[in-house]
Amino acid sequence: MRAGGPDGHKVLIRRAAIQKRVKAVAHEISHDFKGERVHLIGVLKGACFFLADLAREINLETSIDFISVASYGKGKDSSGQVRLLKDLDTSIAGLNVILVEDILDTGRTLLYLLRILRQRKPKTLRVAALLDKPSRRVTPVKGDYVGFTIPNEFVVGYGLDYGERYRNLKDVCILRPPAQ
Ligand code: PRP
Repeated sequence: MRAGGPDGHKVLIRRAAIQKRVKAVAHEISHDFKGERVHLIGVLKGACFFLADLAREINLETSIDFISVASYGKGKDSSGQVRLLKDLDTSIAGLNVILVEDILDTGRTLLYLLRILRQRKPKTLRVAALLDKPSRRVTPVKGDYVGFTIPNEFVVGYGLDYGERYRNLKDVCILRPPAQ
């Protein structure tokens, strides 16, 4: 872990390491779906940076769409209820769908999304997540393409926010604890 992030955050994963890993994940996807089309679905808002970089490194016919969900009571006393805010623009029936997430945390969001997307009969349904925090999982879900497995720290940057701030940081950083 290195210091030097903006606002005193500690850099956990540098932009160069992210770029390298995103390329490797895209390469893996291109290999797995060789000769086919893939349809990337980004989960707003956090996944938009990862999706944009990933899509440009995939060497296949690629289309994109976005979906938005809200979860109630995130954090303490979480009810874990997830609700759809914005649905997909188009049908995914018969497509090779890759759900793109910035982070897998408790897994509740992913469980909900996999459930509704499966009902729409995609040809295949996989999950790409830049970050995975398996220590926080309360549901039995996992990513098929995971960028980095990280410890239980609150991270911001490269799409991840704290109260809508810091999404545009180029590095993934550990949020600086507030001053006492
Ligand atoms: C984050 C993240 C995932 C979800 C993961 O989204 O992008 O969608 O939480 O958490 P879970 O595994 O505990 O369900 P958030 O609700 O913070 O929205 P955002 O992407 O707009 O920041």
